[in-house]
Amino acid sequence: MRIVILGPPASGKGTQAAILRERHSIPQISTGDMLRAATAAGTELGKQAATFMSTGKLVPDEVVVGLVRERLGGDDTKSGFILDGFPRTDAQADALGAMLAELESPLDCALQIDVDRDLLMERATLRRTDVRTGQIYHLKYNPPPPDAELEHRADDLEETVKIRLDQYDEMTAALLPYYKEKGLLRRVDGVGDPKEVTLRIVAVLEKEK
Ligand code: AP5
Repeated sequence: MRIVILGPPASGKGTQAAILRERHSIPQISTGDMLRAATAAGTELGKQAATFMSTGKLVPDEVVVGLVRERLGGDDTKSGFILDGFPRTDAQADALGAMLAELESPLDCALQIDVDRDLLMERATLRRTDVRTGQIYHLKYNPPPPDAELEHRADDLEETVKIRLDQYDEMTAALLPYYKEKGLLRRVDGVGDPKEVTLRIVAVLEKEK
């Protein structure tokens, strides 16, 4: 299975991609996680990316396309992958199409998770991550255990989330008609218990078999 998960910031892409990764034993490729890892490691790429991420802006296409190209070349992607948060611009979508054509591995679907803006703001600002396990929690909807070592993402502050949501509307929402035209777009309602959302996604993916 080769899928991309689309959806605005905090719509549940990472939560659902992690579940699908376990269910299908295929890698989850999250450009956000890769960029945060590069930043934490203090690499040149990480430093460059951090200036965009901290202000809620998209990292330049050539940077993320290079990361994804390298990652898709890995042996573990041969039986499939879940791209989480990539592509986010027309240029990235075109680059992905070219990479997959070269690998003779076409996409099975582009899955959009739909959630209203008010709820996205609440999901982002109350999100916390356990730095030891990488597990994502939510202070209201999925409270962490008392011994978790919690981190509040710097780009989850209200003002920065607003910018990220605007960037999504301006740059990424255009990918819905892009993939619809190719007959690949599938949409699921992302509101409700995460397990219910997973069931909706599984039902959509079953139809692709
Ligand atoms: P990235 O890390 O990809 O951020 P994002 O797209 O903004 O997505 P999020 O990680 O915020 O949310 P999510 O949809 O994964 O939701 P989650 O499952 O965590 O990117 C960060 C930055 O990196 C970007 O701003 C940009 O600068 C850069 N970047 C990354 N990719 C790039 C690219 N391709 N091009 C250019 N720049 C790029 O859930 C959110 C919260 O809600 C959690 O607390 C969770 O517990 C909770 N939750 C999840 N599902 C539910 C549910 N059903 N009900 C209630 N709560 C829920």
